[in-house]
Amino acid sequence: MKRILVTGGAGFIGSNYIRHVLAAVADVSVVNFDALTYAGNLENLAGVDTDPRYQFVRGDIADKAALEALGPVDEIVHFAAESHVDRSIEDAGAFLRTNVTGTQTLLDFARRRSLGRFVHVSTDEVYGTLGPEDPAFSEETCIAPNSPYAASKAASDLLVRAAHHTHGMPVLTTRCSNNYGPFQFPEKLIPLMIANAMEGKALPVYGDGMNVRDWIHVEDHCRAVDLVRQKGRIGEVYNVGGRSERANITVVERILELTGRGRELIRYVKDRPGHDRRYAINDAKIRSELGFTTLHSFEAGLAATVQWYMTERAWWERVRSGAYRGYYERMYGARLGE
Ligand code: NAD
Ligand code: DAU
Repeated sequence: MKRILVTGGAGFIGSNYIRHVLAAVADVSVVNFDALTYAGNLENLAGVDTDPRYQFVRGDIADKAALEALGPVDEIVHFAAESHVDRSIEDAGAFLRTNVTGTQTLLDFARRRSLGRFVHVSTDEVYGTLGPEDPAFSEETCIAPNSPYAASKAASDLLVRAAHHTHGMPVLTTRCSNNYGPFQFPEKLIPLMIANAMEGKALPVYGDGMNVRDWIHVEDHCRAVDLVRQKGRIGEVYNVGGRSERANITVVERILELTGRGRELIRYVKDRPGHDRRYAINDAKIRSELGFTTLHSFEAGLAATVQWYMTERAWWERVRSGAYRGYYERMYGARLGE
C-alpha cells in the first residue's frame, strides 16, 4: 500500500483530493499534513477522517523538524499554499514563506528520504494574462506572473524544476485554471457570491466585470492530479483546464438566477490592482498523453455547487462566524493557536 503525503489537505482542493483518492484507489493511504491556517478546515474531511487509511498531522511545510518527525511516506502531492490573490496584494509575506520557502523545504525533505513521485500543484496564473484574441496558455508559454501570489507560485514551480534538473528528483507539475465546487472558502468569487446572494447581501464585482476565467469543477481537477501522480512523465508540466471561459459578470448573473435573487444585489466596486484580464488553458497535452477528460459541464457543475451551498449552509456559516476553528479542538483535543 502506497502512503501519500498530502500537504494542504484541509483546504478546498486538498480535501476534495483526499476524498477522491481514498474512494478511487484501494491500495493507498494518506497523511494529511496541514498547518491549519485560516483556510484550513478539518470539517472539510468529516466522514473520511474515520477511514483507517487517513491520518492528520498538523504541521508547517516550512518547518524542517515537523516534516522529519513524519513516519514513512512514499509520494507527495503538494497543495499547501497561500492561495488568495487579494490577500497577497495586501501582504505578500506569508506567500513567500509558504509557497517559496515551504516548497523548497518540502523538496529537501523528499530528497533526503529519496521519496518517489512529488506532484506539485500549481496554477495557470504563473503564465500571466491574455488579451481577448490571444491563444490559450500552453506548457511552453513563458512564465510572466502579475500578482505576488502568482509570482510566489511561479518561484515554487522553478524550484521544483530545478530539483529535477539538479538532483534528478521525480517531480511533476500541474497548472490548473479556476476551481469551483464544495468546500471552497467563501472569499473566492463563486462561493462568496453564492453566500452573499443567499444572505441578500451585495455582490462586489471588480472593475467592469468583464475579466474572464476558465472554470473547472474541483473533482475534475482532483482526477487530473491523480492521473498525473500515477501516469505522468517525470519532470513534465501538465496544464489542466475546464474549457469553460466565462466573464465574471456572466457567472455572477447565473448565481443570482440559481439563488432566486435579482440584479439589484450587484455592486461594481474598485478593480483589483494589476487584475489579470483573461485566463485560458490549452490542455491538449494531458488529454492526449494521459487520456484526461472533464466529467462536469460548467452549467451543471455550477447548479450543483449552488445546491451544495444551500444544503450545507451550516458549513459556510461556521466558516463566516469562525466557529469552524473549534473542530480541531473537538477532534484532536488540542487548542488551535493562531
Ligand atoms: P486553500 O487556500 O483552500 O487551502 C490551502 C491549504 O494549505 C489550507 O488547508 C492551509 O491550512 C494549508 N497551508 C497553508 N500554509 C501552509 C503551510 N505553511 N504548511 C502546511 N499547510 C499550509 O487553497 P486551494 O484553493 O485548495 O488551493 C490548493 C492548491 O492548488 C494551491 O497550491 C493553489 O495554488 C493551487 N490551485 C488553486 C486553484 C483554485 O482555483 N483554487 C487553481 C489552481 C491551482
Ligand atoms: O486561475 C487559478 C487561480 O484561481 C488560483 O491559482 C487561485 O488560487 C484562485 O484563488 C483563483 O484566482 P482568481 O484571482 O482568479 O480567483 P478569485 O476567486 O479571487 O477571483 C475570480 C475573478 O473574480 C477575478 O477576476 C476577480 C473577480 N472577483 C473576485 C472576488 C473575490 C470579483 O469580481 N469580486 C470578488 O469579490
